[in-house]
Amino acid sequence: TIKPGAFHLKLDSKGLDISQIQGLDRNGNWVSLTFTKNINQNGLGTQIDIPFSRGMSKVKIKYKTSPDAEGLQWLNPEQTAGKKHPYLFSQAQALNARTMVPLQDTPAVRFTYEAKLRVPDGLLPLMSAEQKGKDEKGVWHFNMPQAIPSYLLAIAVGDIKFKPINDHIGVYAEEYILDKAAEEFSETPKMEVANTKLYGPYRWGRYDLLVLPPSFPFGGMENPRLSFLTPTLIAGDKSLTNVVAHELAHSWSGNLVTNATWRDAWLNEGFTSYVENRVMEDLYGKDRAVMEQVLSLQDLKRDMKELDNPALTQLKLAENLNHPDDAFSNVAYVKGQFFLQFLEQRFGRKDFDNFLKNWFNDHAFKSVRTEDFIQYLDENLMQKHKDKVTKQELDDWIYGPSLPKSFIAPKSDALKKITDIYHIWDKGGIKAKNIKTTDWTTHEWLHFINSLGRKYSAKQYKELDDAFGLTGNNNAEIAYAWYMKTIKGDYQPAKKELENFLMNVGRGKFIYRLYAALAKNNAADRAWAKRVYAKARPGYHPIAQRRIDAIFAEYDKK
Ligand code: BES
Ligand code: ZN
Repeated sequence: TIKPGAFHLKLDSKGLDISQIQGLDRNGNWVSLTFTKNINQNGLGTQIDIPFSRGMSKVKIKYKTSPDAEGLQWLNPEQTAGKKHPYLFSQAQALNARTMVPLQDTPAVRFTYEAKLRVPDGLLPLMSAEQKGKDEKGVWHFNMPQAIPSYLLAIAVGDIKFKPINDHIGVYAEEYILDKAAEEFSETPKMEVANTKLYGPYRWGRYDLLVLPPSFPFGGMENPRLSFLTPTLIAGDKSLTNVVAHELAHSWSGNLVTNATWRDAWLNEGFTSYVENRVMEDLYGKDRAVMEQVLSLQDLKRDMKELDNPALTQLKLAENLNHPDDAFSNVAYVKGQFFLQFLEQRFGRKDFDNFLKNWFNDHAFKSVRTEDFIQYLDENLMQKHKDKVTKQELDDWIYGPSLPKSFIAPKSDALKKITDIYHIWDKGGIKAKNIKTTDWTTHEWLHFINSLGRKYSAKQYKELDDAFGLTGNNNAEIAYAWYMKTIKGDYQPAKKELENFLMNVGRGKFIYRLYAALAKNNAADRAWAKRVYAKARPGYHPIAQRRIDAIFAEYDKK
């Protein structure tokens, strides 16, 4: 809707080649509009300013995207598993929708959309929308009736096959991995039930999962109706499916109730991490949920140590931050999650669950700020239970640095046992091959590896590796955790498989830290990493290329 008195449409764009803009005038004629371009600071692209006259109701823009649009990865056939067809996929969050479409690229604005797509024969197009099928002319139709913010706009095209899980949940993937994916994610319907029990109905129609090629730079992305997932989740034992619980949970926290600005990102990610963990608890029990909390806390502590700026450890991020991607850390996720756990502990699960359910319902399809949440919390919980949480405690969580005094660290008996056995091994009290690991879960393995707190002898790394088969491990999380330790410990025999990993996995959470650790370790590792990167780079997503280029640029500057 055009506000009375508004005579400019201002749209974000980046790298778009705009050839024509037309407006529908009050006589029903399309007339050509002249527009101006204002280059943004900070590499955020170009603002298109379209002046229009009274009574104009629609605008039509003819444009082309650039081949190096940061929001799109175009894979040639050799970069796919099937090797026969090209593949395209998008990643709009946080500010990349503008590299695909000229639009108001802010989570404060929502829109519905329709799309018509022409794709080469034999390829299947998908969007974050309802797929209406192909017409006689070979054109695919999509319709998204629920209003979404720009960062949830999504497209994928490829030789993609489908396998249903139930009547409204299914998996899309390349053929080679389709059955495995459907099996790995077979408990998604139970996750939906757990979510619905807590917070009310799923409001988006279908819920499908799309397993992308390995260059997908995230673990998952909550595109509505169609979460995007990295294939590195497919471990064979369902041990990494918390990411599915996470992306599904965004159907309430984030997609339904959306952070109005990226400074409020914790309203998306912290809430979602909290809900994710509640769902994992419902499906698999308290022990697993708490193990995941303990591992998350380790990641948060590492991030807080690395963030040189205490302002970046607040839930509500300060003004004047550059790109939202640079402020993204486990603070929004894990500190946000622990804050909601704190509220749950203080107000009790029953009241807090009810409160959160109402929060989602009362703000459905709206964008919200941290201050809206504080007010809602005050009106609906704090005032009703006056003695449970103080204003100071609240402020410390939201506007204070690090973790506040009222934080209670999660404790896992299972992981405590792992810490104990690690210490015994570290002191030479047991040989690795004599540790009874047969019933260890992925989380216990991760905790053991993360416990390796110093530099050991090459013989000790080999002892662990021979006993546990860590180098080249099929579980990407375990392999990654181990490679991080082998880099610090200069354990060379892992290098070949590490190279393999870097060549075949594009998930940012793994590869940014691996490259950074190699670059930092010593000149030889840095040279080695640069050689590997030179080979791997063409296969990485533009988002990952930008990040890793920056890691090496740091050192070239020095
Ligand atoms: N929305 C995020 C992914 C994202 C964040 C994309 C910031 C662009 C900018 C998604 O929901 C997410 O958080 N993914 C995590 C998994 C999760 C279990 C922590 C990931 O990709 O690792
Ligand atoms: Zn998320």
